[in-house]
Amino acid sequence: MAEMAATSTSDAPAQGRLTIGVPREIVDNERRVALVPDTVKRLTADGVRILVEAGAGTSAGFVDSAFEVAGATIVPDARAVYGQADLILKVQKPEPSELALLRSGTTLISFLQPLVNTDLVRELARRGVTSFSMDAIPRTTRAQSMDALSSMSTIGGYKAVLLAADFLPKFFPLLMTAAGTIPPAKVLIVGAGVAGLQAIATARRLGAVVEAYDTRPVVKEQVESLGAKFVEVDMTGIEAQTQDAGGYAREASPELLRRQQEAMTNRAIRSDVVITTALVPGRPAPKLISEETVRQMQPGSVIVDLAAETGGNCELTVPGEIVIRHGVTLIGLLNLPSSMPYHASQMYSKNLQNLLALMVKKGQFSIDMSDDIVAGTLITRDGEVVHEATKARLQAAVG
Ligand SMILES: NC(=O)c1ccc[n+]([C@@H]2O[C@H](COP(=O)([O-])OP(=O)(O)OC[C@H]3O[C@@H](n4cnc5c(N)ncnc54)[C@H](O)[C@@H]3O)[C@@H](O)[C@H]2O)c1
Repeated sequence: MAEMAATSTSDAPAQGRLTIGVPREIVDNERRVALVPDTVKRLTADGVRILVEAGAGTSAGFVDSAFEVAGATIVPDARAVYGQADLILKVQKPEPSELALLRSGTTLISFLQPLVNTDLVRELARRGVTSFSMDAIPRTTRAQSMDALSSMSTIGGYKAVLLAADFLPKFFPLLMTAAGTIPPAKVLIVGAGVAGLQAIATARRLGAVVEAYDTRPVVKEQVESLGAKFVEVDMTGIEAQTQDAGGYAREASPELLRRQQEAMTNRAIRSDVVITTALVPGRPAPKLISEETVRQMQPGSVIVDLAAETGGNCELTVPGEIVIRHGVTLIGLLNLPSSMPYHASQMYSKNLQNLLALMVKKGQFSIDMSDDIVAGTLITRDGEVVHEATKARLQAAVG
């Protein structure tokens, strides 16, 4: 058990009482904030002191005065937050200017993507920062209320459908009007994890006819229960274990990928909208929609590629941009959760609150390594990288 000492500043808190700092997010187009006033209220009631950088919640709709009413102290700049806080709560991984402010002995909780950002992880260890990554929360039943990946994927799936509806030059629902009958839009969802299932539900609510595919056959029932048709891929002659023990997809073999691409082409060319969400953790996104498929799609169709961050499921996706190729609108926008910052912040803050409940008791912070959620989320401690999968990735890079 490591007790965290309070920092000694002129404004020093009572001995051992945890000070949490919430800086303003500085990455371009990031509108979320790590804590919302409701969580601040609960934590301060538990004896925690909370410093919020002025304006940190403004772009998410949470003004400074709301944080003050909830019990936080507003400080003028990031330097004041990092200088006094024992525990920093963020959304995005720290930028170099933020790393420079992180003192040895400070704890950081944010999204870090440690398997990809190996240099950052090494630097956090070198600086003596104890770090937890919200994307490393185990996907277990007990951890569901802390699962920030699921929260953000829910928003991504919902927003992807709204974007598609906005760009599609057609209605989504069936309409019977005096000017004639309009058939419902046909939507194909590729990848039916958390984002894909939310996309199915949202497209159905808008009245579209929806079909969906996932490499993991176990999701067929979930797809059908949302009122969508499950697309089958011919698996004859393929011995494929498409899911790992943790419930995640395995990378498809070249033959399976070829058959998946063929099936997606057949469906995509009959669809008005394709929303792709297929991901394999720690790997580039599988390319399921080829340029040839886009060429064969109806002009005016829309593809929203939620996998754009890891290279995209469509060959023609341009990460961060909306482009038109062969008459098809391709949306590769990144960080959709930030475009719905109020609820994204509220959900993320709740996830943090539930994680902190495992580590903060009566205003004191401690790390209990016998708790599988705490241990599985911890990335660096005492100058070392302690997260097993990240350590393996670092060793593979050296060897
Ligand atoms: N706390 C929990 O218990 C919990 C929480 C969230 C998710 N989960 C499990 O994890 C699963 C995956 O969650 P996620 O949404 O974070 O996954 P993800 O974001 O890693 O991937 C999205 C989807 O893409 C699919 N995919 C990968 N390769 C594909 C391919 N070649 N073709 C088609 N689809 C492909 C995956 O099977 C997955 O459903 C869930 O469905 C669930 O079983 C459990």
